[in-house]
Amino acid sequence: MRTDVVRLGRLAGERSGDMMQFLSSMEADRQIADADILVDIAHVLMLDKQKINDRRVTRQILSALLVLYESGIPDEAFDTRFEDVHAGIESLLIESAGPDIGGRMHMGRSRNDEVATCIRIKLREELLKQMAALVTVRQVLLAIAAKHTTSVMPGFTHLQHAQPTTLAHHLLAYEQAFSRDFDRLKDAYCRVNLSPLGAAAFASTGYPISREYTASLLGFDGLVENTMDAVATRDFALETLADLTIMMANTSRLCEELIIWSTSFVKFVTLDDAFCSTSSIMPQKKNPDTAEIMRAKSASVFGAFAGALMTVKGLPMSYNRDLQELTPNIWRGIHDAKVSLRLLADMLASAEFDTGRMKEEAGKGFSTATELADTLVRSYGLPFRTAHNIVGRAVMKGSLSLTTLEAAALEVGPKISLKKKGLTQKKIDEVLDVGYSLGLRKAPGGPAPSATKRAITGRTKQLETDSDLTDKRLAQIAKSREKLITNARRMVA
Ligand code: ARG
Repeated sequence: MRTDVVRLGRLAGERSGDMMQFLSSMEADRQIADADILVDIAHVLMLDKQKINDRRVTRQILSALLVLYESGIPDEAFDTRFEDVHAGIESLLIESAGPDIGGRMHMGRSRNDEVATCIRIKLREELLKQMAALVTVRQVLLAIAAKHTTSVMPGFTHLQHAQPTTLAHHLLAYEQAFSRDFDRLKDAYCRVNLSPLGAAAFASTGYPISREYTASLLGFDGLVENTMDAVATRDFALETLADLTIMMANTSRLCEELIIWSTSFVKFVTLDDAFCSTSSIMPQKKNPDTAEIMRAKSASVFGAFAGALMTVKGLPMSYNRDLQELTPNIWRGIHDAKVSLRLLADMLASAEFDTGRMKEEAGKGFSTATELADTLVRSYGLPFRTAHNIVGRAVMKGSLSLTTLEAAALEVGPKISLKKKGLTQKKIDEVLDVGYSLGLRKAPGGPAPSATKRAITGRTKQLETDSDLTDKRLAQIAKSREKLITNARRMVA
């Protein structure tokens, strides 16, 4: 039976299985186990460079660590007898390299800076994967939008027909939201990719360590400078989870629309069977379950954020064990968000939009009434509020199923006779036309086909920039890992 080397000195007495499990972070530590080996290697290389350990010790520790890196960390390291994977790996190392060698790995550091470093290494990679998933969703949205710049549909406010728009315009709205989500994660990355290593328990260490060297070996862009903050803070994780929460809120809204659009009374979209379920009793049913689960996943990501936030709010400086309970929230939030976004891209790409049905609805509910009011202003000199009231009253008199208005309904008395001013039924029908109304709305970001085409060109350029940045950062961290391992291999050769 392996012992937890950390507990050997100070503590006596057996612990129950429940107790060990309660205290151990092993389950969540599987997420950071690989990162822990990298952190160990970087730390050992630094101890060598700073002549804190001699070359013979360095070589032996590194050989043992490289075995773990190459053949994987054995299951014994994850036993809940160890408080965490850091203790598990150190215990294994001491066993394989002997106490005189293995016992020299943990000099000048603490699990407090170690775990914070591991979390950041894993998280930065996850952030980039999440950014890549967002790039894919945005690509899909832009591709669909490009095909539908003239596919008219009703636009809604309060879920009531409001003004006509196009499918392109509607989807571009989501692309823009997801692009802000991307920017937020990109920004969070700058604060995640900083090294806490060397902070030790919180007060750094008396050994002549080089924090800069381990930071550069591990591909960090800099240090979390104050060593007390370095071990105490998890705000980089809170920030990430907040960003993911917002991203999932956007995702949830899109899912909600897909659910509404796929009902038999709206029927704007048919989702691919792969993303749907049926009923165990009602044989005719096709339910949009993927979108529904995604809508609920947004709640669980928010839950992860709330859980993490509540964990830190009452903690005094510096490290407190509570922080261990925060970490699983990070991985849960990341996981749910990542899977959701990947499935969302596929669900959108395979969805079939019924442009005929959208067109049917586009002009309903007097959706072009705003344009008529605006025409009364532009062509007949009425103040907007008067025009608004005149058209509103005409709609009140008319039936809601109507899409056009009778000229007579716009007559409100001899004072403002639009007929006398030259307003004809032909003119009314012309300005109430969906295409006419849309064509006028060509301000930047508007629904007119000319505007959405311009927007698609601009957004596509931005997407390329974002995609390049993600790839570049992914390549950077892969390269820094490779360099670190080459470094270690050279040292033992
Ligand atoms: N498993 C711990 C965590 O996740 C690692 C740090 C333990 N530090 C300590 N002082 N007990 O936070």
